[in-house]
Amino acid sequence: MSTPLGKTVLITGSNVGIGKEVARQLALRPEIGRIYLACRKQDRASTAKADLEADTGRHIFQIILMDVANLGSVRAGLADVDGSLDALVMNAGVIGNKSLMELTADGVTKLFATNVLGHAVLLEGLLAQNRLNEVAVFVASEAARGIPKLRFKRPAFLSTSTDELTAVIDGSYFAETKYDRNLAFGQVKYIGALWMAHLARQYPDLRFITVSPGNTTGTEAANGAALPLRFAAKHIMPHLGISHELEVGAKRLVDGVIDPSLSSGVFYASAANKLTGPLVNQAEIFPDLANAAFQDHANEAIHRFTTQ
Ligand SMILES: NC(=O)c1ccc[n+]([C@@H]2O[C@H](COP(=O)([O-])OP(=O)(O)OC[C@H]3O[C@@H](n4cnc5c(N)ncnc54)[C@H](OP(=O)(O)O)[C@@H]3O)[C@@H](O)[C@H]2O)c1
Repeated sequence: MSTPLGKTVLITGSNVGIGKEVARQLALRPEIGRIYLACRKQDRASTAKADLEADTGRHIFQIILMDVANLGSVRAGLADVDGSLDALVMNAGVIGNKSLMELTADGVTKLFATNVLGHAVLLEGLLAQNRLNEVAVFVASEAARGIPKLRFKRPAFLSTSTDELTAVIDGSYFAETKYDRNLAFGQVKYIGALWMAHLARQYPDLRFITVSPGNTTGTEAANGAALPLRFAAKHIMPHLGISHELEVGAKRLVDGVIDPSLSSGVFYASAANKLTGPLVNQAEIFPDLANAAFQDHANEAIHRFTTQ
């Protein structure tokens, strides 16, 4: 592909769900000139690319093969990116059963590798090479501050030390405790949000935005959940007003990319006890998110696993 006119964005996990919809919405904006679809499977990425071209009438999509749970694959994918990015959307993510506590070759859980570690290596690789021009968006969840009404406990720690956060990353947190898929998911997104706030202080000329799409229907995220939860997500939650459609959830991430009024270092998601509606600074709900020492501890814990 020749040098694009307009801005370049890379979106991880963009072959389905929210990531694909973010790609679609961004492609409808004339200032966007190239979109990298960073996906782990060629066939699913090719299908998404064809859909997106047909939907938007734009031929600005380029596939980068990247499994974010594999740091070698992330580094190879990064080498395939041509020049610099204006925006990076770190969207790939998983939630699920205890099999996600298995460790990768880097010694972290598959849950942490997919949601955070691969993105840390990707974003910090770009920063080290001075190849990010404007904004990085990390996709989190209201689970990172707890969702009492859906039985997601708040991921609170005794002192939020580097060692405590490391226990989440290497899975030892759940070695002695019954696995809780919702808490485990909230913990990793919480560490990701703290890490982004740490980076915001290190790079004041760039923007680091953490955003939750909110409780969003029309994705594959609930596919691995128990049948009652899948049924509720599809048929009950939309009617109770505790979820919104794919276009709405994805628009929150698009705002993270295009809205300069969103402040760097802030984690934006729904208001307290909500999973939809306007974006609110989550530190107003969970003040630990604004604690600079905790942010630094998250960064230190992550870097215990990125040296290889
Ligand atoms: N839906 C919600 O209500 C909700 C709420 C809060 C936060 N989120 C967050 O929003 C993001 C998108 O979720 P979604 O609902 O759109 O889920 P989804 O439909 O399951 O899509 C997840 C995407 O991530 C990709 N992915 C998973 N593991 C990967 C890996 N190792 N390497 C590269 N890509 C990988 C998937 O690719 P494959 O097709 O190859 O599996 C897929 O493209 C996630 O970070 C999720 O935690 C979603």
